[in-house]
Amino acid sequence: MPKITFLGHACFLLEDEGKETLVFDPFLKENPLAALKAEQVKANYVLVSHAHSDHLGEAYDIAEANGATIISTAEISSSAQGKGLNAHPLNIGGKYNFPFGWVKATLAFHSAGIAGGTPCGFVVNYYGKNIYFAGDTGLFSDMKLIGELTKPDLALLPIGDNFTMGIDDAVIAASFVNAPVVIPYHYNTWPLVEADPGEFKKKVEEKTNSQCIIIAPGESYNF
Ligand code: NI
Ligand code: MN
Repeated sequence: MPKITFLGHACFLLEDEGKETLVFDPFLKENPLAALKAEQVKANYVLVSHAHSDHLGEAYDIAEANGATIISTAEISSSAQGKGLNAHPLNIGGKYNFPFGWVKATLAFHSAGIAGGTPCGFVVNYYGKNIYFAGDTGLFSDMKLIGELTKPDLALLPIGDNFTMGIDDAVIAASFVNAPVVIPYHYNTWPLVEADPGEFKKKVEEKTNSQCIIIAPGESYNF
């Protein structure tokens, strides 16, 4: 059974016994809520949604230490390859098969943090289960299309406001994506992104068909 562990902020570890491990947006060193040190992360793939420091974080160090492949935008992938790392470039709307399934890069309304780049989200097919990781983004109505086309089993949505969707927009996002389970992230790392995940859960469960699971940094959810 796949297990997703929240490592704080926008960092998640996706693993299953004896299978490939993926880490998303491994910002750990400067993350006050980090549940693991970057040196403790064992991963085969490092997915990076954009180059802001709270997402790129220790991606290169983890890739180097583990011989892992970075999956990211063309610009971040080139930068990683320039440092001698393995990287697979994707661009928005594109999908590629990997040993664990596939990854599709999705639109994200945000800034890239790297010259000429675009931010993205990902839909990951992980041994048959689809996970939508929205990245840093504002609400957009094509999330409905992402939901319809990829039918996520699990949606990971930012709720902290200021830099991304806040709670009320993220509730609408949850209704668009229509995954059975939603997990919030990108909140309470700093005062600028303070949000009550309990309020998000209450509203999601009142207004959408999704169940909301809140996992604190270090906690996991099996699905
Ligand atoms: Ni950002
Ligand atoms: Mn961010």
